[in-house]
Amino acid sequence: MTSTKANGSGRVLIFDTTLRDGEQSPGATMSLSSKLEIAELLQDMGVDIIEAGFPIASEGDFKAVEEISRLVRNATVCGLARSSFADIDRAGESLRPAARPRIHTFISTSALHMKYKLQMSPEDVIEAIDKSVRRARSHCDDVQWSPEDGSRTDHDFLCRAVETAIRAGASTINIPDTVGYSTPMESAFVIRMLRERVPDIDRVTLSTHCHDDLGLAVANSLAAVSAGARQIECTINGLGERAGNASLEEVVMAMRVRKDVFPHETGIDTTRIIQASRLVSRVTGFPVQFNKAIVGKNAFAHEAGIHQDGMIKHSGTYEIMRPEEVGLHESKIVLGKHSGRAAVSKKLRELGYEIGASRLGEIFRRFKHVADRKREVYDDDLVAIVQTANPEDANGVMEVEFLRVVCGTEAPQTAEIRMKLDGMSLQASATGTGPVDAAFNAVTEVFPHKARLLHYQVNAVTEGMDAQATVTVALDEDGLIVNGQSSDTDTVLASVRAYVDALNSLAMRRQAAENMAFA
Ligand code: KIV
Ligand code: ZN
Repeated sequence: MTSTKANGSGRVLIFDTTLRDGEQSPGATMSLSSKLEIAELLQDMGVDIIEAGFPIASEGDFKAVEEISRLVRNATVCGLARSSFADIDRAGESLRPAARPRIHTFISTSALHMKYKLQMSPEDVIEAIDKSVRRARSHCDDVQWSPEDGSRTDHDFLCRAVETAIRAGASTINIPDTVGYSTPMESAFVIRMLRERVPDIDRVTLSTHCHDDLGLAVANSLAAVSAGARQIECTINGLGERAGNASLEEVVMAMRVRKDVFPHETGIDTTRIIQASRLVSRVTGFPVQFNKAIVGKNAFAHEAGIHQDGMIKHSGTYEIMRPEEVGLHESKIVLGKHSGRAAVSKKLRELGYEIGASRLGEIFRRFKHVADRKREVYDDDLVAIVQTANPEDANGVMEVEFLRVVCGTEAPQTAEIRMKLDGMSLQASATGTGPVDAAFNAVTEVFPHKARLLHYQVNAVTEGMDAQATVTVALDEDGLIVNGQSSDTDTVLASVRAYVDALNSLAMRRQAAENMAFA
């Protein structure tokens, strides 16, 4: 078990808030099973603290924090709460099963927020800090306090607020740059100032929480570390409100590669980074920008002839870290159409996926389908299959059994479909502006719904004309946003499966909401 106290040591704690701040990104809502999958991977990769949600926000958030508290044994599980007792008690309740619970409570401290958002006087805010931290301490020993909009807070008032939180029993003080306004120099200055001016500051861990509105979240987080912060709050792929949070992979790799500047350890197994990035991208339907540092498709690609020449002579000429350090391996030809279930299972284990027997059946069926169409099945093909054959597929109420589309220069573009719906085979045909539109219309004939297509994206998994396409679809039905993904060598079929995958999630979410209403 790792310690979540970093006081005075060279260790920097990694506090991951993908499941809380990350999930607050518009359109990034995640199902319970996806949150559990992410939490397990975060634990396995050595994250110290997992912020699992905002328990008072919804029944779904409460359940997620409770289930994650049950599942995670080696990391601290944290629930967010405003300063009201209702929020704090709800967080305390959801964290009851946790081996190492933490309540993270916050209130705004900038003049702007106090006056317009809270409509509270500074004195009232100080009183609320004292009461909220004490209330949180009645639930657990590990309490984190944050001054929201901390980077725009008057320095004298910030010192007073932090002192109040420490006196009331907070063991971590987190300084958020809520609106992504800070600069590296200011970020370092605030941490240094708190260390110089606030009594007993050495008893607590200082933390930094930076948003990326000006593209400075990672730089600001690292500057805070050089000034004495020993916890970084971050998210996988930099997911988060608006422009996102500091990205976990970037802060961790910066400290690893530039040990000369940041002589600090983290507990992160960096070889799990790519897996985590892909998982979060799959679950949220948010693609990773091709040139994103560390995890982008092009992050380790050397296209220019002059670079390639240098790389051949010595990889250090243009490479500051090796792709394997973040879990990226050359995509090799792995298997073919004669490969059996055992070979697929063994390869999946090598790629870091522990797959249970029931899920392996679905993955193997998809593998055979791809292997029949593609001569060479690469690691990346297998990863795409695993990532898109999620458990919801297997349990979904709908499945595509047959699809035929007619498209080309002559209209109308038509699609015929046969789908299994609640155990029955149903057929429909429809026309559309193109093959995908026609096929989606045919699905809607079989399963009428009012969901709006929010997002549709196609990515090639590997190079070559026979490459699989991974398709991501996001749907919005009255504010309920769901994602679906699928991959296939046939882009239209992958699109329809992704659409059906999203509709399955929608049907399950609707069902869960109805069950909760009757409970
Ligand atoms: O950005 C922010 O201020 C937050 C707080 C809740 C820590 O996310
Ligand atoms: Zn935030």
